[in-house]
Amino acid sequence: MTTVVGPRGAVFYRGALSAVHGALMLLAGLSVHGELLADTELVEQGRYVFQAAGCVSCHRGDSTLAGGRPIVTPFGAFYPPNITPHRERGIGRWSEEDLVRALRMGLDPDGQHYYPAFPYPSYTRMTRQDMRALYAFLMTRPESARQSRPHELPWPLSLRTLIAHWKPGRFTPGAAPVDPARSQQWNRGAYLATALGHCGECHTPRGFLGTPRRDRYLAGTCTGPDGLWVPNITPDDETGIGGWSTEELDTFLATGRRPDGCYASGLMMEVLGTSCMQLTDYDRRALAVYLVSLPPIHNNLDYLCAAFGDDEFLE
Ligand code: HEC
Ligand code: HEC
Repeated sequence: MTTVVGPRGAVFYRGALSAVHGALMLLAGLSVHGELLADTELVEQGRYVFQAAGCVSCHRGDSTLAGGRPIVTPFGAFYPPNITPHRERGIGRWSEEDLVRALRMGLDPDGQHYYPAFPYPSYTRMTRQDMRALYAFLMTRPESARQSRPHELPWPLSLRTLIAHWKPGRFTPGAAPVDPARSQQWNRGAYLATALGHCGECHTPRGFLGTPRRDRYLAGTCTGPDGLWVPNITPDDETGIGGWSTEELDTFLATGRRPDGCYASGLMMEVLGTSCMQLTDYDRRALAVYLVSLPPIHNNLDYLCAAFGDDEFLE
């Protein structure tokens, strides 16, 4: 451009440019600062969703989020992949829309189906805003070059096309509805328990393709993570936590202390530390309010796990 303008014009032009440039830089500086502030808030919001949704309990490996311990099911072992922002081995190339599609639809960026062992049947109920925050947070995590492990599934379960046949009728994408007949706190608890879906990952037995069984929601299992028994936390008096008040459940989620004075151990203590104890008082209480309102399911694990496999189920 300067070539078509004469020497004096060029000087004038350059002078004007640098003034404009200076003003633009100032504006840019301000808006970058503004964006940074907004971003920090979003990232913090994402951290909260991430903790409440317990992403760590599956994706944590040797370093945070580089792929976790196997989810062992009667159908084979699923290995949660590297979800750090590494561009080759993680999700560093993903757009926000890619993450939204994964959580909402259970589809990868190429349109392939994910196994429901990745709890997208729960995460589909998340609000768009929570997904957006989650993306902002994930992209601030340290990268890891750890290679994700392939799942160990027998043929034909190893075929992802099979999932396309599983989805219709069993998987309904879309954000969680609000129940106007219930309190705001109950609805928040339902959102925390079902959309962020954390408790069912361990407390609900898994069926075909690693899907948590809806008819046994939170009723406990003999084949939880690491092959452990995970107790029935429905309010069944005999085999669940029917004897616990909302207050007692709230205390447990805040401290790990059971009504009998014993403390939770192992995996549950980990969940309490990384997730439940991080919740606001209001949210933790909401979770307790929701959980004690669930229909009780009679599932005697002491008896079942000792005598039979998980498939035998007493109604
Ligand atoms: C119960 C265990 C479990 C939890 C909890 C879990 N995931 Fe996963 N996730 C998986 C498994 C298993 C896969 C692999 C699915 C497949 O290969 O079809 C996966 C896959 C993914 C993928 C796809 C990665 C890729 O490279 O294609 C993303 C992204 C992801 N998870 C993010 C999350 C986020 C965010 C959370 C928390 C909101 C979360 N996951 C919680 C088990 C879990
Ligand atoms: C990573 C797996 C895992 C997740 C996720 C998980 N739990 Fe647990 N939970 C366990 C295990 C294992 C135990 C048994 C631990 C023990 O006996 O100390 C347990 C025990 C409990 C107990 C005590 C039950 C009893 O009879 O003593 C309660 C209540 C409970 N969990 C509630 C929850 C809630 C609510 C959530 C969701 C916020 C949740 N758990 C998520 C694995 C998990």
